[in-house]
Amino acid sequence: MADTASVLVSGVKPTGDLHVGNYFGAMRQFIELIRTGKYRPFIFVADYHALNSMQDAEEMRRRTRELVLAYLAIGLDPKDVVFFKQSDVPAHTELAWILNTITTMPYLMRAHAFKDAEAKSKEISVGTFNYPMLMAADILLYDAAVVPVGQDQKQHIEIARDTAEKFNRTFKTDIFKLPEAYIMPNVAVVPGTDGQKMSKSYGNVIPLFASHDELAKCVMSIVTDSGDPSTSSGQVAPKNVYAIHKLVRSESELGKMYDEYRGNYKMLKELLIEDLDRYLAPLRAKYEELKNDPGIVDTVLAQGGQQAREVSEAKMAQVRRAVGVAY
Ligand code: ADP
Ligand code: TRP
Repeated sequence: MADTASVLVSGVKPTGDLHVGNYFGAMRQFIELIRTGKYRPFIFVADYHALNSMQDAEEMRRRTRELVLAYLAIGLDPKDVVFFKQSDVPAHTELAWILNTITTMPYLMRAHAFKDAEAKSKEISVGTFNYPMLMAADILLYDAAVVPVGQDQKQHIEIARDTAEKFNRTFKTDIFKLPEAYIMPNVAVVPGTDGQKMSKSYGNVIPLFASHDELAKCVMSIVTDSGDPSTSSGQVAPKNVYAIHKLVRSESELGKMYDEYRGNYKMLKELLIEDLDRYLAPLRAKYEELKNDPGIVDTVLAQGGQQAREVSEAKMAQVRRAVGVAY
């Protein structure tokens, strides 16, 4: 990939066990985007962002490692990507502080995430309030042109843009490039075993790296009482089973299958178990293989951290001069 390629930056918080909804809803498209080779990608584990909601050291360490392994297992290649941990690169928090000083409280109080947090509880941490400033720093340090995120993060990218403009205006410079959000194509919401959106907060997930037996258990527990005409031939199918099945098998094949076994939910679930297992087995095998490599996570993060520090330090040298704390 050329050094002049557009920079792509994205962060992922190490919170929650990855599930089939995360994979088909976000991770897979993300890897495909990187694989186009059109970008110079910087991908990081947003551990300092996660610290707002996860305050258990062992859990932080475990989930960070699992997230790195998961991304490697689904095909992120550290040769093509600067893959690092936010906390390994001090420039992120340093720049966040500087951005805090040019940003007003009323401006940040308009953020949707802050308003949602406030609606749930009055005891919001300063870190949650400031969340968009750390995120703006994450993005601006690397001259990001594109930031792939889900729809819910769009406003945070707008805040990063506004803040870059404000910095450039305040310090009469053009140090910061204005980033654009790349909203990931909207794939259908993957339902969980209870028919609601699959989500770690609903306890209805199929874990991404589940064994065959675990998959079988999850699939067998999918609620099937609601049918709708969703097969190609318009036959009634168990809606939630079908919605997951079509992620791993073409709809034309499914049409025939769901017609043949119409009403036989047990059989359709068994077919789903086998198809899901066939699709996920290579990812799971890769995950297990990587998990048994004791040094892989540290090696990848050490190398990515080094590269990210080089790029971000060069930017910080300009920033410190622009604000007048360096000569
Ligand atoms: P959760 O709902 O389990 O807390 P997150 O909010 O951490 O999941 O989601 C991380 C990413 O995965 C987001 O980009 C989100 O859009 C995607 N995602 C999560 N659950 C689903 C789902 N059930 N269907 C489609 N995409 C999903
Ligand atoms: N806030 C993002 C989320 O919750 C994670 C994130 C942190 C991020 N820093 C970022 C995403 C920078 C893109 C760019 O999903």
